[in-house]
Amino acid sequence: MSGQKLIIKGGKPLNGEIKIQGAKNSALPIIAASLLCSGKVTLKNCPRISDTYASCRILSHLGCRCSFSENTLLIDTENLCCTHIPDELMQEMRSSIIYMGALLGAKGKCSLSFPGGCQLGPRPIDMHIQSLKKLGADIKEEHGEIECTALSGISGTKITLGYPSVGTTENIMLCAVTAKGKTVITNAAREPEIADLSAFLNKCGAKIKGAGSGTVVINGVKELHGCEYSIMPDRIAAATYISAAVCSRGEIALKGIEASLCESFLSVYEQMGCGIYAFDDSIYVNAEKKLHSPGKIMTLPHPGFPTDAQPAVMAAVCRTDGITIFEETVFEDRYRHVDALVKMGADIKVVGKAAVVTGQKTLYGAKVAASDLRGGAALTAAALGAEGITEISKICYIDRGYESIERDISLLGGDIKRK
Ligand code: UD1
Repeated sequence: MSGQKLIIKGGKPLNGEIKIQGAKNSALPIIAASLLCSGKVTLKNCPRISDTYASCRILSHLGCRCSFSENTLLIDTENLCCTHIPDELMQEMRSSIIYMGALLGAKGKCSLSFPGGCQLGPRPIDMHIQSLKKLGADIKEEHGEIECTALSGISGTKITLGYPSVGTTENIMLCAVTAKGKTVITNAAREPEIADLSAFLNKCGAKIKGAGSGTVVINGVKELHGCEYSIMPDRIAAATYISAAVCSRGEIALKGIEASLCESFLSVYEQMGCGIYAFDDSIYVNAEKKLHSPGKIMTLPHPGFPTDAQPAVMAAVCRTDGITIFEETVFEDRYRHVDALVKMGADIKVVGKAAVVTGQKTLYGAKVAASDLRGGAALTAAALGAEGITEISKICYIDRGYESIERDISLLGGDIKRK
């Protein structure tokens, strides 16, 4: 798989409509949450991406059964027996850390190692560990192995996060949902995917209020049952395809996603001069005319501009008039796509947390490599607006989060092949 490439011939405006896939960042914690349920879980609109397959491998290792039928994932946790996740499975994705909370909640213990995932700078797990300790877990780390036990059970408590970390908020929710008593998280992450996790858990019998706001209240319940649930659409995939439309000066419609879910970044495309029109459950984008810089963009926790959309929007502004300044405040090393964009003719200077992009009339096809998931997808968008042919290698990163980027871009009329 890792040897495959995307070959993209740029210059043809995208035109057409696609349905947006289910959200990776919602599916991953919800798959982990199914460990807490007795009975079967049916997840509809579940993206078939390498990260959800990695999650299924973790569940299978733990004794559960997972099977995909199109975009429906069936999970049976009846034979959940194991509480150890080997290092090679932990290394497959950053999100594997949420199995700490899920297994503590389900079995009162677990052993695992530090998670892998995209290299976006240091990605410590100190907040996860501190929070789960507050809930009563005893956590010891030796030679990279983390042993967690909760001999006297998990008990609800008040936890104030120093930073609204998405994964930490999810880990606390997973651990506290079957705890004794009430847990209150303040300064919780407010991403819509947190609200989706909460909606799933509540459908399984949990008592969670306030998810998606800064204060989440979890009243512990004895047990959770299975349910059928539909995963929310992927707003970051939407940003990727809107950027692809901008780069190619196209006109596209994204189905199955409400504009309200994308508020944190749609305004940036509007500031560029794109026509963005919202219908019930679809977004129509017109990027045919001359576009200009949206000015300054700072990445922030939700409801601020999402760091995951930064690479795609950077690809888009490479082809607008004027100078755009990015300030990346969420991750330390999230400009790894810049070198490849520069190789394609972009004018981008990185100074510390800032990246200064001077818009260019033309980008050119080149041989480039994806350096992480969203950075790789951004190169695909850039290539669609570039003159000539772009060859993107290391697309295993892109496959972590996109079901089939070449299928969706082809449906929009783009010239793209996987080789
Ligand atoms: C999640 C998303 C990822 C997104 C990110 C920020 C998933 C599967 N991934 O990642 O796509 O880019 O939110 O929106 O949902 N931090 C610490 N200590 C900790 C935990 C986090 O210092 O214990 C720091 C991180 O290094 C980072 C910042 O907090 O600088 C944000 O991380 P966090 O919100 O936890 O992101 P993830 O859950 O890893």
